[in-house]
Amino acid sequence: MSLHSKNPTTTETWTKLQNHFIDIKSEHMMSWFNENPNRAQEMSIQWEDFYVDFSKNRITSETLKLLKDLAEEVQLKEAISKYFGGDIINQTEGRAVLHTALRVPEHQDVFFDGKNITPDIFEVKQKIQQFCNEVISGQKKGFSGKAFTDVVNIGIGGSDLGPAMVVEALSFYKNHLNLHFVSNVDGDHVNEVLKKLNPETTLFVVVSKTFTTQETLSNATTVKQWFLTHACEDDIAKQFVAVSTNTAKVLEFGIDAKNIFPMWDWVGGRFSLWSAVGLSISLAVGFDHFDALLKGAYKMDVHFKNEKLEQNIPVILAMISIWYNNFFKAESEAIIPYTQYLNQFATYLQQAIMESNGKGIDRSGAKVNYQTGNLIWGEPGTNAQHAFFQLIHQGTKLIPADFIGFAKSLHGNQDHQDKLMSNFFAQTEALLNGKSETVLRSEHTPERIIPFKIFEGNRPTNTIFIDKLTPESLGKLIAMYEHKIFVQGVIWNIFSYDQFGVELGKQLAGKILEEFSQSGSENHDPSTTNLIAYYKSKR
Ligand code: F6P
Repeated sequence: MSLHSKNPTTTETWTKLQNHFIDIKSEHMMSWFNENPNRAQEMSIQWEDFYVDFSKNRITSETLKLLKDLAEEVQLKEAISKYFGGDIINQTEGRAVLHTALRVPEHQDVFFDGKNITPDIFEVKQKIQQFCNEVISGQKKGFSGKAFTDVVNIGIGGSDLGPAMVVEALSFYKNHLNLHFVSNVDGDHVNEVLKKLNPETTLFVVVSKTFTTQETLSNATTVKQWFLTHACEDDIAKQFVAVSTNTAKVLEFGIDAKNIFPMWDWVGGRFSLWSAVGLSISLAVGFDHFDALLKGAYKMDVHFKNEKLEQNIPVILAMISIWYNNFFKAESEAIIPYTQYLNQFATYLQQAIMESNGKGIDRSGAKVNYQTGNLIWGEPGTNAQHAFFQLIHQGTKLIPADFIGFAKSLHGNQDHQDKLMSNFFAQTEALLNGKSETVLRSEHTPERIIPFKIFEGNRPTNTIFIDKLTPESLGKLIAMYEHKIFVQGVIWNIFSYDQFGVELGKQLAGKILEEFSQSGSENHDPSTTNLIAYYKSKR
């Protein structure tokens, strides 16, 4: 069954939310904290090793009630059942959205199209496990009989960002293998990586769901040519593996059938790190840690599926985000993890969130008359504090931010950890409280400087506070954002699981590429015609 289609702005609750917004939009959050000493507890959720504090938001209990009513009015609960139940909710591509099936325990059946798909999933997981064990232990060897030292993941978008982000995030848990990621069609990217490699001890993992992506096929071809200057055709079977749904294309490329790790149409690229696309994760940290990542995601799935809306972490975060996006008209959201390990987390979320919810047509095919997907950006704290926090604190834009922190550091340096955590708490406190004219005067600030030193505060943040960065807690965190994406797509009445917006540029690039080797030019706008001619004169 498809998802219910309803323009959210035509619901009764939307009108109530609009009126409520007018009532509270100028209030300062601090006045609510002062009125209600229990606000921090009431607007926090403690679940497993997660503590999610959403009290520093421009919301009241009435806002939360209305947002919950909105979710109910657009049939969110029914949508959640369809999502987990394998319904064709990616209607524009005629596909189910079942990345959640990749994380179920072996005894749990998941039916898609009348077939239990759990056994297929576990067959591939077993293949991943065996392969990774053999590579990590050194049992599997390269063409000259040496054990592998390096692994190169060749992929782009969902076939790169998820694995690359997780491999870095879990580097504390890593083994001896050096992981490299080649994604950009920029030949300098692949050549810089090749410079570091020994062809005898490097394993190449070509990851492409479709196996038709220009970047990945170009990079894989360049790598194969480089490899063949050191080895022979038969050696490809020893050092190249592929992850794809497109077996025919993989075989055509020259990768051995036994080296193909399958995936399925019901796994979207940007949600695929849980599938064999995560092979490089499993190689980097070992299968058990990869499996723990999946287990964490599964726990979040169970929470999301079963918890009532008002205690449901992804639902709460999604609804608060809608509140800012559609009522406060906030354009962007910042993601600030207070751990260097999550250096690539915002980049990863950019694809997950913006490719999913960057849509302007609703589920009935009409142009939306309201805002949908936010801009996502961010960097780890404390680095971010010395880069763009000025604008968040004193700029003219409202930028809701997620602060993600971990109570324990992995290397156990308490001095650094305390400094990190003090910044983590101080920033959300400063964003909430600000600094008033009165305080500045009491500090004898020169009169002419006072206006520049005032912090209005009232800037919203969520604090996602987790005990420790482990494969399992990371799995929970990623799944939390995946479900937030789903909830927002449901409310905005858009299709979150297609990505037609990336197609046009690809097609035009194909045409322009042909023109480089031809005289004359196709019919372009004058600017593009000039630029192509200029490039041709320089190349
Ligand atoms: O950028 C568009 C896209 O289709 C993404 O959704 C996907 O993750 C990426 O390209 C890579 O696709 P593939 O895994 O098929 O090479």
